[in-house]
Amino acid sequence: MKKLGHVAVLGTGVIGASWAALFLAAGKRVVVHDPDNRSMDRLNAFVARVWPDLRELDIFSSRTPGKIEFGGSAVEAVEGADFIQESVPEKLEVKHRLYAEIEPYLGQETVLASSASGLMLSELQEAWTDPSRIVLGHPFNPPHLIPLVEVFGNERTGKGVVEATETFYASIGKTTIRLRREVPGHIANRMQAAIWREAIHLAREGVASVEDIDRAISAGPGLRWAVMGPTTLFHLAGGEGGIGEFCNRYGPSFQRWWKDLGNPEFDDETKRIVVEGLQAARNPNAIEELADERDRKLLATLSERRVTRIQVRCGPRNHPHRILHDGTANPMLLHPPEHPAATPPKLAKLKMRALL
Ligand SMILES: NC(=O)c1ccc[n+]([C@@H]2O[C@H](COP(=O)([O-])OP(=O)(O)OC[C@H]3O[C@@H](n4cnc5c(N)ncnc54)[C@H](O)[C@@H]3O)[C@@H](O)[C@H]2O)c1
Repeated sequence: MKKLGHVAVLGTGVIGASWAALFLAAGKRVVVHDPDNRSMDRLNAFVARVWPDLRELDIFSSRTPGKIEFGGSAVEAVEGADFIQESVPEKLEVKHRLYAEIEPYLGQETVLASSASGLMLSELQEAWTDPSRIVLGHPFNPPHLIPLVEVFGNERTGKGVVEATETFYASIGKTTIRLRREVPGHIANRMQAAIWREAIHLAREGVASVEDIDRAISAGPGLRWAVMGPTTLFHLAGGEGGIGEFCNRYGPSFQRWWKDLGNPEFDDETKRIVVEGLQAARNPNAIEELADERDRKLLATLSERRVTRIQVRCGPRNHPHRILHDGTANPMLLHPPEHPAATPPKLAKLKMRALL
């Protein structure tokens, strides 16, 4: 596959700005378009603010911030692009209009990945004459720090397009998972939705404050979920019998709790409880400060994950190329023929120094 050095970002709101910053930090030529006339100032300010964080990432390539190019139209932005990350509003008609506008100007091999959180690929494909080049590339906010990208292609997707997308994301430090079939909200958002539904139910029922319900996650299972998924964690909670024993011991309890979980409506009362509950706990105007606090803690967690995984899996003396830059084992070395997404690893600069 050819090197994807020229990336276009369509839409530079919450998600597009973060993608653009990451692509720039990874040394890509980045051309963006957003019709909002404040977008240029906002994007430049955003990149300047997160640049110190991006410097901590092992994919950082020594370019200075401020080199993002602004296309006067979507067509201008995508001209000559190898890869397009579309992050325009989550409205089917907006995405469709944009696709129809740019499709005639795309190169033969250009791939467009949509950040769509809930819209499904089959819906996005409706606007394309040739839908073989559009895939789902759903990130998690903020994409410049959170490794996960959910990737999906279907029977209308071109051969090798999903693999090329995964390889590209891996090369900029992302961890991809692949959906086998489409469902609204993909995977991670459905899991978030399940948790948030119960959080709202508990708040509506007066079981605890919004602040304490948030804390129940951030001081509890959320810490574990940052390092292992829920099923693996329950495997560890089953004693020597592992997950099988856990299911025997606690399956009936889960069954009872599942029956009791809430199913709140998102009505005005729910909105009032959520908004007032958050306002009681946090200064609602301090969005940027809160985002900075989140990013500091995320960076610390990401660094710690890398060090721990390297120590656990390799030991400090092992060859570093056994580990990819997101801290996971290099699948090329584990299963050479089957894993298309593996790329030559580049290690976390700063953390390896402490280990060697
Ligand atoms: N916010 C999240 O947490 C999150 C997380 C993952 C994925 N997403 C997905 O990312 C996409 C963008 O979401 P967001 O939260 O960044 O929205 P946003 O409203 O913050 O940003 C959308 C941007 O797109 C611009 N835009 C509108 N029409 C355009 C066009 N024709 N061409 C180029 N730009 C255009 C708008 O001016 C705006 O700046 C959505 O599909 C959403 O589902 C959002």
